[in-house]
Amino acid sequence: MAFRLWAHRMPGNSPSADILEPAIRLSQQNYEKMAEFVTRELGIKMPASKKSMVQSRLLRRVRELGMQSLDEYCEYLFSPPHSADERVHFIDAMTTNKTDFFREPKHFDYLTQKVLPELEGTAVHKLKKKITVWSAACSTGEEPYTLAMIMSEYALTRPQFDFQILSTDISTRVLLTAKDGIYSRHQIEPVPRELRRRYLLNGKGEYRSLVRVRPELRRRVSFHQLNFMDEDYRVKQIFDIVFCRNVLIYFDRATQESVIGKICRNLVQGGYLFISHSESLSGLNLPLTSVGASCFQKQEGL
Ligand SMILES: C[S@@+](CC[C@H](N)C(=O)[O-])C[C@H]1O[C@@H](n2cnc3c(N)ncnc32)[C@H](O)[C@@H]1O
Repeated sequence: MAFRLWAHRMPGNSPSADILEPAIRLSQQNYEKMAEFVTRELGIKMPASKKSMVQSRLLRRVRELGMQSLDEYCEYLFSPPHSADERVHFIDAMTTNKTDFFREPKHFDYLTQKVLPELEGTAVHKLKKKITVWSAACSTGEEPYTLAMIMSEYALTRPQFDFQILSTDISTRVLLTAKDGIYSRHQIEPVPRELRRRYLLNGKGEYRSLVRVRPELRRRVSFHQLNFMDEDYRVKQIFDIVFCRNVLIYFDRATQESVIGKICRNLVQGGYLFISHSESLSGLNLPLTSVGASCFQKQEGL
């Protein structure tokens, strides 16, 4: 079925509630049901202003299922037995996965100039001989692969330096992309030329518009599904460094405090946490000290 709109899409805009035919639109009651589910299960705030975004993100799925309206989809989503499988698609659609290689590059400079030399010199690192990093909310993998490139570069002149990166996200779709490690040439533009040469493989023939992260680098990074709303993250490792960037903005303050508090359980004393420059932890009760722009250190003795 083709979806008809009331008016042409405005350039740069997604279809809004106003331009969708009434028969296709989501009723307010069903929007609230979906919004309540998203906030409860994912922690993501869902004010009424997000309704048009939700509608536009779900249209494709509604089309794939051959349905006539978003209300029909809502009924399908919440009715057993298909609800469990459909929730995977729904969660994929409700998460915002924007990311980039070398996003917020000052963090990577700070890592190379301050954090890695310091951690490398600590007794803990000398004993276990491996720096451990967690990219929490890794989306399609650009962040952990950037970290892997940065740390591999650091290791070039330090044969003893070793590291491993755990990457987690709630979305099934982004984790599949991340594991493949295949990107378009446009996506890898922020990667410096020398690092592209060392860590990326160029596709050939019909794949020439694509690149793939080299297997040596991919082996440094593992991917797992993890929902920040879970009470127990069941992560056994204790990390030296955690990147948790551009996800806290979707949560309210109480959820931010709870998520970062749980992450801190897996951060070594003196270990580093990076959040986005557009996020803040001020006023939250956490065992962290601010040590730089959106960079924190876990306080000793906690
Ligand atoms: C905007 S991306 C950030 C990617 C990367 N950290 C960066 O800064 O470029 C936010 C990611 O958080 C994930 N996310 C949202 N809610 C989550 C939750 N409750 N548990 C785990 N991941 C979640 C989304 O799936 C999405 O991939």
